[in-house]
This record gives sequence, structure tokens and C-alpha cells, in this order.
Amino acid sequence: MAPLYILFVCLGNICRSPLAEGILRHLASEQGRDQDFVIDSAGTGGWHVGHAPDDRAIAVAADHGIDISRLKARKVSSADFDRFDLILALDRSNLRDLTGVAPPTCRARIELFSTRAFGTAEDVPDPYYGDSTDFEAVFRLLYRGCTSIAAASNEGPASNNGNTSSVT
Ligand code: 4NP
Repeated sequence: MAPLYILFVCLGNICRSPLAEGILRHLASEQGRDQDFVIDSAGTGGWHVGHAPDDRAIAVAADHGIDISRLKARKVSSADFDRFDLILALDRSNLRDLTGVAPPTCRARIELFSTRAFGTAEDVPDPYYGDSTDFEAVFRLLYRGCTSIAAASNEGPASNNGNTSSVT
């Protein structure tokens, strides 16, 4: 089966979306499903292009056995809208920005992360101005969401909600 090309998008690509990228890659690997996904992340803003993730994002991922230290921030490009099957915005502002710049011929399906993961329309809160507690809360939300997304893509489109999991 062809892999699912999935792109996570937040504002800066240094906190939420690299965490989501690292978590989904980790879950796929744990499940022996590396071949099922091509996973990437990007930001709608370009301030941090080329930078590693925020130290607090690297630290919370490492606390849970996930290494995101080698990721590099980049900005969403027009090619992303054709390359990816699924572009998941981490909050509603990211979703508005993405749909505002998507070309009319956009191939990707653009959705809110929480809609795909939980069937809701919530933001994954931006932890950038917060502290390590906020990063831990965001990690846990992303972990639950990515677990649901991975399960749904294994079982088919009808069962993408209701999955529960715990952070290791
Ligand atoms: P992210 O967090 O969108 O989750 O990567 C942010 C990172 C940087 C900024 C804002 C949010 N910033 O304003 O530089």
C-alpha cells in the first residue's frame, strides 16, 4: 500500500509541529509501520527557518524517549499542497492561514489536527510563551492525537475517533 504523506503545520515549526512529527514517526516505528507514512512538519511563519526545535520541545520529547533534536524548521511551500495527502493544522489560526495560501488545484486534504484525531475543533495550544508544564500538556495531547491518527490510517477512514492511549 502507498504510504500516507502527512504534514503537520503550526506557526513557527519549532514547538508543536516538530513534536507531532516526532511522535507519529515514533509510533509508526513502534508499530512496525515505518513504511506506512511519510511524515514532515512546517510552519506558516518563516522566523525560525533552519533552526532546531525549541529546547523545551526537545526536552519534553526526550523525556518520553523521542529524539527531535535534529529536525530543522521550514516554512510551508506551495509544493507541499501537491506533495502531501494530508496537511494537519495544529490550531484554527494555522488552518485559516493554510487555506488562505492553498492553490486552487490543491491535492492535499487540509484539516485541523483535533478534527482528524478526535472529531473535535479544538486548538493544540501554543506553548511558546509557556513553561515546561505547558510543553508536557501539549506533548500528551499530541501523543493521544497521533495515536488515534495512526490507528485510523491502519483501519480505514471510518474509525478515526475514540482511540485511547497512554503516554509512556
Ligand atoms: P509553534 O510555536 O507554532 O508551536 O512552533 C511558536 C514558535 C515561535 C513563535 C510562535 C509560536 N514565535 O512567535 O516566534
